[in-house]
Amino acid sequence: PRTTVGIIGAGPAGLLLSHLLHQQGIDNVVLELRSRDYVERRQRAGILEQDTVDVLRESGAGERMDRHGLEHHGIELRFDRRSHRIDFPSLTGGRSVMVYAQTEVVKDLIARRQQDGGTVLFEAEALSVDGIETDRPSIRYRHEGAEHTLDCEIVVACDGFHGIGRRSVPDDLLTVTERTYPFSWLGILADVPPSCEELIYAHHERGFALHSMRSPEVSRLYLQVAPDDSTDNWPDERIWDELETRFAVDGDWTLRRGPITEKSITPMRSFVAEPMRHGRLFLAGDAAHIVPPTGAKGLNLAVADVTLLAQALTRYHAHRDESLLDAYSENALRRVWRAEHFSYTMTTLLHSDPADSDFDRALRLSHLRYVARSEAASASLAENYVGFKEN
Ligand code: FAD
Ligand code: DHB
Repeated sequence: PRTTVGIIGAGPAGLLLSHLLHQQGIDNVVLELRSRDYVERRQRAGILEQDTVDVLRESGAGERMDRHGLEHHGIELRFDRRSHRIDFPSLTGGRSVMVYAQTEVVKDLIARRQQDGGTVLFEAEALSVDGIETDRPSIRYRHEGAEHTLDCEIVVACDGFHGIGRRSVPDDLLTVTERTYPFSWLGILADVPPSCEELIYAHHERGFALHSMRSPEVSRLYLQVAPDDSTDNWPDERIWDELETRFAVDGDWTLRRGPITEKSITPMRSFVAEPMRHGRLFLAGDAAHIVPPTGAKGLNLAVADVTLLAQALTRYHAHRDESLLDAYSENALRRVWRAEHFSYTMTTLLHSDPADSDFDRALRLSHLRYVARSEAASASLAENYVGFKEN
């Protein structure tokens, strides 16, 4: 088979790119390793920046999001048994975010691709990308037991951190910058109404905790745990007890408990591979960069990358003008590095690092108090959280 743009991966990046290209009349095929059911259930992010909301809405894929998404105008920081609200609209010229799960974004985009007659092949594993340095790149893949070659004009790797796209670029042409953190997140979904109206980011000497939500009936919560920890060590009672300890606050507030329906542990890392292009192969989303989840940026960066790429491919397709394709990596990386810095800052601000000295701990508390009390510091957090426009 052949197509104009071959896309590896049906996560948010690959699916949205496919949808945006289709709207510009650009033929494309998406190859996805997993089954449709698997990608629609994989629990991940939950916060959409305003720009992400706008892109989904303007592309006609935002109808369910507008019905079920929850607009949030702020977050709460909690430490020293006290709450501090960060108000987004007043600090950012009216911007806010939306709580709408990545699983739902993925479902909406898959449904839309199907309605529009798009080709998304599930259980199709990309094995290699060949001819990247020629104008006839191709993807070798396995589907239903047989190997095939998809001939393309352009290949976009949206295949996540563990994909093959990034590894198809010669090592000496890619600069990788990386950091790991001495903790992981234990995430749960629970069938209980959220105990808050807005997200709570809590710092406690025992570690970070985050109260998020999926709907008025379903809560999503996270706990900082040791990097080598296992969900086997975390029976439901222990999770609720630990959450209660870390969210404890003076005044009346109670954490509602309910049946836990999902439990998993995610490692934390920062990672950037530059440039995000080699020849006719482009990298987008987690295939090129990872942020620790504390700033809620991973999904939003994936959407920002493919939005730029769709514009660049549109110009290329219409006029054979490669200027935006040539500028893609540099433009995308400006936003990526802003998100890397913000995610790192939120992570170190809110977690307890077992190796911290007394000095580190004192600095962290001072930084937290500063963010809570200074309008300038709150505004800085708010403008990064809702999405800072680097471009
Ligand atoms: P992905 O969603 O990873 O999609 C890549 C797709 O490529 C996958 O469907 C994969 O199956 C497919 N693929 C891989 N290899 C191949 C191949 N060889 N052939 C074909 N297909 C292939 N962000 C937050 O903001 N908050 C969170 O709480 C949060 N939790 C996360 C939990 C986990 C376990 C992970 C991995 C990420 C989490 N993130 C979170 C980050 C966020 O979900 C990602 O940034 C986002 O999914 C990036 O989208 P993507 O499309 O680039 O990559
Ligand atoms: C969620 C995840 C995050 O990493 C975050 O910062 C906020 C919310 C979530 O899954 O709801």
